[in-house]
Amino acid sequence: MKENILPCQDDDLRHRMLQKLRESTTGIDVEYPLATGETSRRIYLDSTASTLQLGVVKDVMDKYLPYYANTHTNVHFNAKLSTAEFDWAHNMMLDFVDADPEVYGSFFVGSGTTGCINRIARTLSRKRPERDVVITTIMEHHSNDLPHRKHFNEVVHIPVVITEEGFGAADLEKIEEALKLYGERVNYISVTGVSNVTGIVNPIYDIAELAHRYGTLILVDAAQMAAHVPIKMSGHDNPLRNIDMVAMSGHKIYAPSSPGVVITRRDLFSGIEPEEVGGGMVEDVHVDRYIPTDMFPDREEAGTPNIAGAIALATVLYTLKKVGMDFIDEEETDLVNYAISRVKEIPGVVIYGQTNPDCCHRTGAMSINIRGMHHSLTAAILNDYHNVAVRNACFCAHPYVREMISDDLMAQMDDLSNEELEALAELHRGMVRASFGIYNTRDDVDALVSALKDIVKNEDFYRQQYHQAACDNFFHNTFKFDSTPVFSTKQAVDSWLDA
Ligand SMILES: Cc1ncc(COP(=O)(O)O)c(C=O)c1O
Repeated sequence: MKENILPCQDDDLRHRMLQKLRESTTGIDVEYPLATGETSRRIYLDSTASTLQLGVVKDVMDKYLPYYANTHTNVHFNAKLSTAEFDWAHNMMLDFVDADPEVYGSFFVGSGTTGCINRIARTLSRKRPERDVVITTIMEHHSNDLPHRKHFNEVVHIPVVITEEGFGAADLEKIEEALKLYGERVNYISVTGVSNVTGIVNPIYDIAELAHRYGTLILVDAAQMAAHVPIKMSGHDNPLRNIDMVAMSGHKIYAPSSPGVVITRRDLFSGIEPEEVGGGMVEDVHVDRYIPTDMFPDREEAGTPNIAGAIALATVLYTLKKVGMDFIDEEETDLVNYAISRVKEIPGVVIYGQTNPDCCHRTGAMSINIRGMHHSLTAAILNDYHNVAVRNACFCAHPYVREMISDDLMAQMDDLSNEELEALAELHRGMVRASFGIYNTRDDVDALVSALKDIVKNEDFYRQQYHQAACDNFFHNTFKFDSTPVFSTKQAVDSWLDA
């Protein structure tokens, strides 16, 4: 059934809704003690890894959980209610990405986008074994690369467009060349909607059109796209621009503890034995044979699904859809462009990827380095002295990160000796990523920028406070963070029992 949720059109109201979402985010006001001895509010800039929980999820879960029960039976009241809500959650997945329910279905998968893409690769490699090639890009997260490598004979990594302004989106011409070269061997093109390193948005509908013109399919890894950019799987004026499959992670869309979800054309998963077998996906079982059901999504959801997690995710998607994904996209693109423009002010900081907003749509994330400083040291100082939570290293996108770092070093070749270049290469085997969610504001960006400026200015002081451990990471010489006084599951249980 189509939900048809219409986004809010009233500008004031949607700004108020966004503000309410920001203020009610679980943990937005968490405070931590710092190496300076002060305590301050933590600024969360690690949403690309996992977003914080929206307050509405907590509220809805508190209201739903008294009625929780397993689905798969329709007799007692809790089971009826849970089954109805779980069905609604499936519909919400379709509605969120504008997928026509006549053609598409959704199913939940245990472990985020990784689980989803593994399932798709396993299924389609068995269903279309003569098509033994997958085309992907150099900018992918390993989760949208290794499953294809494991299940297909060949994976083609398409480069991104590189101009004087740096690394951009996936190169459409090169995709077309690969489609011509591999022809009917191509099972599907799998491309990220938004890079988890640079936040660069890929032209997924152009890629879909190419894929379909050459008779193949498109899978969009929407792990980073879903929370930030509207997705339209079907209903394009030109149907070649429709998307066949989308994979995404609930924990990256403000619903921690929720599962991954695949939204797919149902015909792609029919006529073949489901990958996972067990309870809930069979018509009938005898000792010598079993008959899988044709029903979708049941056939893809063997075992008890993460029912509460699916409802939590549906809660978020419904909320975001009501606020309006176009509006959220505008707000977040504006925030990341603001962040880029402010970080550009700081001498000695490199921002990876194209930064001109007129030629490159970016959202959600930005990766940088302070030249000459190890990424782990920058990230540690940001955390320990400024309470700015970022992530560092290669973000499970080693080829992409390595290419951008090498490119940046090559650009400095003329100015530096070989030894200096080697030393820089050693330092910059990773990056520092600041990433954003709907709860972040320009104040958070300003805090990041003033922290980076402070680090650049007081580099010598900070270097003296840290040592590098054998694992390559930097640790403060004296300041040790002990999480136990802040939270420990055991203590929380003990105090509940004692109360
Ligand atoms: C673009 C992209 N794809 C896939 C994944 C894997 O997601 P998960 O860890 O939820 O399986 C990530 C995780 O960061 C990602 O950023």
